[in-house]
Amino acid sequence: MKVLVTGGAGYIGSHMVLCLLEAGHDVVVLDNLANSSAESLRRVEELTGKHPEFIELDLLDALGVDNLFASGAFDSVIHFAGFKAVGESVAQPLKYYHNNIVGTLNLLASMDKHGVRSLVFSSSATVYGASEEVPLIEKMPLDATNPYGRTKEQIEDILSDLGASDPTWRVALLRYFNPVGAHESGRIGEDPSGIPNNLLPFVAQVAVGRREKVMVFGNDYPTPDGTGVRDYIHVMDLAAGHLAALGYLGSHAGVFTWNLGTGNGSSVLEVIQAFGDAAGKPIPFEFAPRRPGDAAVSYADPSAALADLGWSAHRSLAQMCADHWRWQESNPNGYAAS
Ligand code: NAD
Ligand code: UFG
Repeated sequence: MKVLVTGGAGYIGSHMVLCLLEAGHDVVVLDNLANSSAESLRRVEELTGKHPEFIELDLLDALGVDNLFASGAFDSVIHFAGFKAVGESVAQPLKYYHNNIVGTLNLLASMDKHGVRSLVFSSSATVYGASEEVPLIEKMPLDATNPYGRTKEQIEDILSDLGASDPTWRVALLRYFNPVGAHESGRIGEDPSGIPNNLLPFVAQVAVGRREKVMVFGNDYPTPDGTGVRDYIHVMDLAAGHLAALGYLGSHAGVFTWNLGTGNGSSVLEVIQAFGDAAGKPIPFEFAPRRPGDAAVSYADPSAALADLGWSAHRSLAQMCADHWRWQESNPNGYAAS
């Protein structure tokens, strides 16, 4: 297949591009490099010996996107491009609604016009909001609690409406839990700009000496050790889930929703311990107040993806930390030095 990957230079996208190339697909990456470096794609080429075509383009450039589809002859699109920082979305909601929603509408309009009606979309477990019921199941009511999460919920609605209007659309809504880790080579990985918002990249930067200690947000949650519990999933398992979804869409029209998680929860303290074991050094940490908006516990029921796609995540927390650490240790400043 010829697959367009929007946001393909980013963290998850670059691992996806690698998996697509290894599976024998032709890949075109569209990215405006707003939160990434083209160095990731150079390294994917080095790892696979295959060339992903790269188009530096903003999804907000509707004419540019349409010109790409006019000549692209794509079979399918995997759509990662968007902004993802929860706190920034609260401070700058218009930036998030504009980029994520308008960018997606531009993409969908061109796909529809040029008859490319197969799409895999990056949704997020954030659409479940602060649900107190776990595990999280696809049919539960959605209740995103911040503008970023609402862009995901709204795009899910847009895609469901599109599928209802025209049964030839084939759409997978993939709700990711907490993607972490890196390709086992340590050549590509997550490279956040500024202070990391998420736990694993923060812990990794402490381990490599870029930051002094981890602030653990809350130790009074109703969990076994009092810290927040999440369903961490290895980014390579996540990419494999996309390949499975793409395969499913080849023989099924309609709009489908799947959780992509392991089904297991790990606490903040368990993650800090596992990362310390992987790095061979203790990770200094300190308890701090809860972070507003955080759920106590979030983990997936991943049984629908197993039943429909034959997919499940199999990499352990220890492997996630080992691979994340290999990437961080060999690239202490991410792609910046390259
Ligand atoms: P990322 O920031 O590394 O990748 C997103 C990419 O999209 C970046 O390369 C960025 O430059 C590009 N981009 C943003 N706006 C664009 C635009 N208007 N035009 C073209 N390119 C644009 O993020 P990621 O962690 O790889 O996440 C990928 C997707 O998965 C996002 O949609 C994100 O919301 C979703 N997701 C991520 C997580 C997570 O924890 N990483 C969890 C759930 C869902
Ligand atoms: N945490 C800390 N210290 C930190 C960072 C995080 O203690 O410095 C804690 C949080 O309180 C939480 C856990 O670590 O208990 C995980 O936090 P993350 O920020 O890594 O992940 P979240 O589950 O809060 O959110 C992430 C993404 C969202 C996405 C959501 C569900 O940030 O964009 O997963 O996919 F929507």
